[in-house]
Amino acid sequence: MTVQPKLIIHGGAGSSLQGKGGLMAVRESLHKIVAVVYAFLENGGSAVEAVILGAQLLEDDPRFNAGTGSVLQSDGQIRMSASLMDGTAQKFSGVINVARIQHPIQVAQALQTETDRVLSDFGAAEMVRELQMPIHNPLTDLRLSEWMEERKGNFSSSMAGVVAEEEMASARRGTIGVVALDQNGKVAAATSTGGKGLERIGRVSDSAMPAGNYATSVAGVSCTGIGEDIIDECLAAKL
Ligand code: GLY
Repeated sequence: MTVQPKLIIHGGAGSSLQGKGGLMAVRESLHKIVAVVYAFLENGGSAVEAVILGAQLLEDDPRFNAGTGSVLQSDGQIRMSASLMDGTAQKFSGVINVARIQHPIQVAQALQTETDRVLSDFGAAEMVRELQMPIHNPLTDLRLSEWMEERKGNFSSSMAGVVAEEEMASARRGTIGVVALDQNGKVAAATSTGGKGLERIGRVSDSAMPAGNYATSVAGVSCTGIGEDIIDECLAAKL
């Protein structure tokens, strides 16, 4: 029996979405991505492939804090995290604090078939090398200027003012996520983030844990918000 596909995407929660012009621009970006990924599902694409496709498109959109447009950490570097959960296979894979690539979700995808399915820092960099991923600088002028502003204030903020649009400098958070149900009734979830910004080196995001990204044979969850709060509740896995 063929199931009508279902798709949920998000570009991160936060006050940034309440801006007027900003809200429209963010909606337009999300609508375009939903259209592409939903068409893929309607053409028989699998839930796992669909969430990877959606996450890549969101990682490529500099409005969102994932992939290109990620926020800078306390030392001025970008380190990104992402994970993929196949609800049918009940397999989670993730990458923590990976740098200088375009699509962190692709590393999580590659790890689905590995014995070691969650890699961080040096291991993640080694995996990127093995996968022969091209070097990509995810830094945008906006994120750099935000970090420079924080530097002027001697980093008095506990996290970056992650904006989805330039005029809303007070907005926070911005992880991206995709949950899909395909025509075969299979569910998958993908989440990707640049973190919360200004964090200590080595901080681990919920987005690369089952707390922030999880799926079963019947449901999927991709979380957005402050990772520590999400981890405290082990939110996504509670389903
Ligand atoms: N939810 C993204 C993060 O806190 O890293």
